[in-house]
Amino acid sequence: MTAEPKTASSTEFTNTNLEVLFTEEQIRGRIAELGKQITTEYAGKELVLVGVLKGCCLFMADLMREVDLNLTIDFMAVSSYKDGTKSTGDVEILKDLSNPIRDKHVIVVEDIVDTGLTLSRLLEILESRGAASIKLASFLDKPEPRIKKGLKIDYTGFTVPNKFVVGYGLDAAGRYRNLPFIAVVIDPANA
Ligand code: IMP
Ligand code: MG
Repeated sequence: MTAEPKTASSTEFTNTNLEVLFTEEQIRGRIAELGKQITTEYAGKELVLVGVLKGCCLFMADLMREVDLNLTIDFMAVSSYKDGTKSTGDVEILKDLSNPIRDKHVIVVEDIVDTGLTLSRLLEILESRGAASIKLASFLDKPEPRIKKGLKIDYTGFTVPNKFVVGYGLDAAGRYRNLPFIAVVIDPANA
């Protein structure tokens, strides 16, 4: 099938091949709620937000601005999806934390939990490092393909259907992370 040319007025953000699931306003409102909840629950504790690169970038930036506490941030990068859309279950640490988390209260900040294979492995690794507590904040929860059924998401932005979603940090082969909203690519062959 030949790709249809985009209309002259279509841009990356107004691409008609994208169906918006959650708007900027909805995202802002939900993250404010999560931030308030975390602010209340972690008052007086030494909190570290650990973002999982690269997908966490927008969620992390917005969430941390809604948490009115004395906190620090750190990042990890792991490989799970290579360039396709299937989870392999293999997790390789591409970038480790810069600082120890021993005795700290950690919230792992993820873009989406799908099969849960990546996060389960990552949590095992972090749990071996002596943190006082580890919780999970995932912007999106896609429960249908979950393989790790016992994985608990403590703070969820939105639940999504079993479709490949992009935007707000999430990519398809590197593209779309900069969309300020969450969308489904209607025709992946015509991206
Ligand atoms: P899991 O191991 O299957 O839970 O997913 C691991 C990673 O795959 C997530 O952290 C995302 O980076 C990516 N991923 C899963 N589902 C989607 C999606 O719908 N869109 C974009 N990335 C996804
Ligand atoms: Mg991720």
